[in-house]
Amino acid sequence: MSKRKSQRTRRLLARQRAIERELRKSGRCALNDSVEARASGIHGHGVFAITPIPRGAEIIEYIGEKISKAEATRRQQTHGVYIFILNTRVDVDGATGGNGAHLINHGCGPNAEAMIDENRIVICALRRIRPGDEITYDYGFDTEDHEDHRCRCGAPACIGFIVAKRHRKRLAARIQAGR
Ligand SMILES: C[S@@+](CC[C@H](N)C(=O)[O-])C[C@H]1O[C@@H](n2cnc3c(N)ncnc32)[C@H](O)[C@@H]1O
Ligand SMILES: [Zn+2]
Repeated sequence: MSKRKSQRTRRLLARQRAIERELRKSGRCALNDSVEARASGIHGHGVFAITPIPRGAEIIEYIGEKISKAEATRRQQTHGVYIFILNTRVDVDGATGGNGAHLINHGCGPNAEAMIDENRIVICALRRIRPGDEITYDYGFDTEDHEDHRCRCGAPACIGFIVAKRHRKRLAARIQAGR
């Protein structure tokens, strides 16, 4: 690891520890000029707008340690929920050296989306977001083991499970039919 890279890693780890400390101390922590992390009615901590965010704006980058698929499998047991697939070779562990973006909850009527731009994962506003609104994006889960992922987002489109929009109609019909 180059000196420059290790300095960056140390800085990111220190920033993450500071976010965790601040959350424990005061229950909230600004992640950048637009959003803060605090308790969510959906689950645990969430990320909320603190200023108006225009449609299309980049809200926050999903930062974390870049790890191999093998390492991601090893970390699955401890904190797999914070691991984001970047591409076919690399995953991003938002719980290690992250900036708090890993605390964004899933929503079935989301106001944001996660986009891959070159080698960055960016969370962008799908519509105008008001201060106080919780930031959510569609996690894009498939229907395998859907019962392990109950959804409490409360959106009108929610079918009670965290699954990608494209699967929701079919899964709702399956549940209705008792299959
Ligand atoms: C990346 S974390 C999001 C941050 C999480 N709220 C926390 O405090 O650690 C993903 C986990 O949060 C929970 N979660 C996220 N969105 C949810 C939702 N819409 N309904 C219920 N739980 C949700 C699930 O346990 C999921 O595995
Ligand atoms: Zn939902």
